Amino acid sequence: MVPTYTLNDGRSIPATGFGTYPLRGEEGVAAVTSAIDTGYRLLDTAVNYENEREVGEAIKRSGVPREDLFVTSKLPGRHHGYDDAIASTRESLERLDLDYLDLHLIHWPNPSVGKYGEAWRALVDLRRDGLVRSIGVSNFTQEHLTRIIDETGVTPTVNQIELHPFFPQVEMRRVHDELGIRTESWSPLGKRQAPFTEPAVVDAAKAHDVSPSQVILRWQVQLGCVPIPKSSTRDRQVANLDIFGFDLAADEVEAITALGRADGRLFGGDPDHHEEM
Ligand SMILES: NC(=O)c1ccc[n+]([C@@H]2O[C@H](COP(=O)([O-])OP(=O)(O)OC[C@H]3O[C@@H](n4cnc5c(N)ncnc54)[C@H](OP(=O)(O)O)[C@@H]3O)[C@@H](O)[C@H]2O)c1
Repeated sequence: MVPTYTLNDGRSIPATGFGTYPLRGEEGVAAVTSAIDTGYRLLDTAVNYENEREVGEAIKRSGVPREDLFVTSKLPGRHHGYDDAIASTRESLERLDLDYLDLHLIHWPNPSVGKYGEAWRALVDLRRDGLVRSIGVSNFTQEHLTRIIDETGVTPTVNQIELHPFFPQVEMRRVHDELGIRTESWSPLGKRQAPFTEPAVVDAAKAHDVSPSQVILRWQVQLGCVPIPKSSTRDRQVANLDIFGFDLAADEVEAITALGRADGRLFGGDPDHHEEM
């Protein structure tokens, strides 16, 4: 069983989840069904991943009761107007064939358009109306967070940001701790720049008889973050979930955090961040 955290709205979130980008088509359905079968309960999708139908289909095929799953989707940057945000969320629910989302995030602040405050008010109302249970954001800076909290009095439950050993987000984690926001980590393994051969990771893997990826995901958990690794491979899905049977020592956690590079940015180079979002 995956442990859970209590969010600032009193609801629970699994301590790790499954990323679904870019899983699509029949292969995508098979990969997500396999992940649910493996034991993942948190599924991370988005309008922009164009795979909400596949995720919905995998949920049906899995046979796992709806209430046992934690389904997250994300509002794209082009739907930040209040009415657009409401309509977009209803369309997500239709594609997923669900009555509610467990968590809905503003995918990114789209600051040049500057309507993320309007989008946040729409999410607050969607929660009031029961279409979404918890609401949060993604790729928000301290300034964006402060603005929506000041405007509405509602603090996001989660900020999903790029976070991995080369980009440990020390400052944003401090901001989240101060505000009572749970950090969720995208590209939690580091994706293309995964630090699987770094001595800090390899040494800990040897010491605990686990793989480098398990060390990195365990490091995420010990920082209090919710990692959402994606894998289309069943063996890796199993391994990425098997991270609750060992503890890294404090100096091992510190050595991995010290891999952080000064050139990190809040926005990574992922296709998730094209302007048209
Ligand atoms: N909010 C945002 O802006 C944003 C941006 C990017 C991503 N995300 C979310 O975060 C999720 C995860 O991020 P991500 O997919 O970029 O990065 P990631 O999960 O860190 O890395 C995924 C890559 O690592 C490989 N992999 C997975 N497990 C492995 C293991 N045990 N050993 C070796 N390689 C392994 C996968 O290959 P195989 O599939 O072949 O195993 C895949 O190529 C996405 O799916 C998406 O849901 C959100």
